[in-house]
This record gives sequence, structure tokens and C-alpha cells, in this order.
Amino acid sequence: MKKLVTLALGATFALGAFAQAFPSKPITFVVPFAAGGPTDLVARQLAETMRKYIPNANIVVENAAGAGGTIGAAKVARAAPDGHTLLVWHIGMAATAGLYRKLPYKPLEDFEYVGMINDVPMTLLGSNKLNANTYRDFEAYIRTNGGKLNLAHAGLGSASHLCGLMWQHAVKLDKSMTTIAYRGTGPAMNDLIGGQVDVMCDQTTNTTSQIEGGRVKAFAVTTAKPLSKHPVLKDYPSLQEMGLKGFELTIWHGMYAPKGTPAPVLKTLNDALVKSLKDADFIKKQDELGAIVVTDGRMTPEGHKKYVADQITKLKTVIDAAGQYAD
Ligand code: MLT
Repeated sequence: MKKLVTLALGATFALGAFAQAFPSKPITFVVPFAAGGPTDLVARQLAETMRKYIPNANIVVENAAGAGGTIGAAKVARAAPDGHTLLVWHIGMAATAGLYRKLPYKPLEDFEYVGMINDVPMTLLGSNKLNANTYRDFEAYIRTNGGKLNLAHAGLGSASHLCGLMWQHAVKLDKSMTTIAYRGTGPAMNDLIGGQVDVMCDQTTNTTSQIEGGRVKAFAVTTAKPLSKHPVLKDYPSLQEMGLKGFELTIWHGMYAPKGTPAPVLKTLNDALVKSLKDADFIKKQDELGAIVVTDGRMTPEGHKKYVADQITKLKTVIDAAGQYAD
């Protein structure tokens, strides 16, 4: 009996010690795109907020860009499953499952799902050099000049690529634009501002300040309805309103840990994430960028995973219709 009590006490102590042991070193948020872009921004705002809710946490952001986000995702799938290496990624987690014939990880099997972060509309943009000011002008201009123009995106499977693919398919251009892949829409935005590329579809988190500053032209938003309450984006039409029937694309971000991360660590991370999603300062910062912080069941690991599984099925239909794949 005495031995049993000792064992039980030992186990309790070990569990307590384990719980206290996380984090035992800096936590790294891996962003699978270049610094200065939309995913980087969300990850940095979240790191700053989550730090408040995980005692003794030092959270750093690492950019592991390339191949539309799949390089960074593979890095996290292979990392030690101890909660210190986490992936902050967006809709690409689901889109790449339909776009890539071969992926270096299995989206639904090689990760623990921590929870979803936000939903982010996109904006269709052009360089200030384009001879068009409204969506109607822009579409007419593209119909005539599309073959001569460049569309920037952040690699096959990125949100900007998916949006460009869907939009070009929906408007049925005779001549597709030449696509130019960047390591993220942070650097792509610099070239759009400089006029080295002509068109981009990007998340409002990256575009709002550039539109407000007049550095790029915005033509439309990708939500079903216009963002009528947003101070900067309220006057832009939705692509549906402009006649692209059923066009709707909203980007979401989520957090992932390597498969096998212990349940108590996942709980610590999810608790801190949920507290961050209710943090007034975080909500305000996201709101200013046009992003909507998640408040529903997708905040839970189960809800998040179910949503991604549904999105994989939904996006595969869209990608198959466009008929373009990555090798
Ligand atoms: C980024 O952070 O650069 C983006 O999320 C890229 C994209 O997916 O379009």
C-alpha cells in the first residue's frame, strides 16, 4: 500500500514537473512566408499577445519561406513534438492538399491542431501605373492587355496564388497573365508599389495601409458582400457584385504543433490562444487590418481540424475546376 501511495505521489509530482517544464526554452512560431507579409504580421501580433498568457514564455518568429508555405510546414511536421516549434499558417494548409500532387507531410495526420486564429478577406489590387480606376475599367483593361501583364503571388498554394487562380478562372480571360512567384506577398507588395508587377490579390492585413496611402489601386474585395463597415475598404465592391457569380474567398489562419505533442502542452497552448483571441488589444489590431478574430468552435483543436478537413474537400473542387496543379 505504502509503495502504491509513493508511486501515485511520484506520478503526480512527475506530471506537475512536466507541466511546469513547458516552456523550457523559447517557443518558435514558424511562418512559412517572408517577413513583412500578412502571415508574418498575424504571427507577430499573436506572439506578442500569447506571451502574456503563457507564464515565462519567450516567443520568437522564424520565417521559413518557399514553395507556397509547404517548406515551413514540413519543417514543423518534422520538429520535436514538445510544443516549442509551432506553425502559423493559413488556408494554404488546405489548398496545398488539392494543388500539390505530392506533399512532404500529411495535413490531417502529421500535426496536432491547436486552434484557428482569424478570417481575413482579400483585395484585388493593381499597380498605380495601370490605366484603370474601377473594377469595371480594370476587367476591361485586363481583357485586352491581360497577356502582357504580370500577376504576383507568394508561390503555388499561397493565398494570393489561390485568389489569382480563382479570379482568372471566373473572368475567363482569353490570355492568362504571367504569374511571378515571390517568397511572400511582403516582398511582392514592394514590387507592386514600384510597378515591376501589375496585379496582385492579397489579404487585407497586408493591403489596407497601402490602399489608404494611395500606393496601390484597389478594385474589389473577395468577400460575398462589400466590407461596408471598414473605414478604408468600405467603398470597394465585392467580386460577386461585379458579376462573378458565387465568387467568395476568405483566408483563415491557424496554429499547428508537430504530431505527438503532449496533451498538457497542447492545452497550455490552446488556453493561451483562446485568451489571446479575447484580448481587446489583439482584437483591435486585427480589426484595423480588416481581419476578424475567430470566436466560434474553430478555436478548439477539434473544431479547427474539422474545418480544415472540410476546406480540403471544398478547395479541391475549386482547384480541380481551374485545372492547375503543382508537381
Ligand atoms: C504571406 O504571408 O506572404 C502570405 O500569406 C502569402 C500568401 O499566401 O499570399
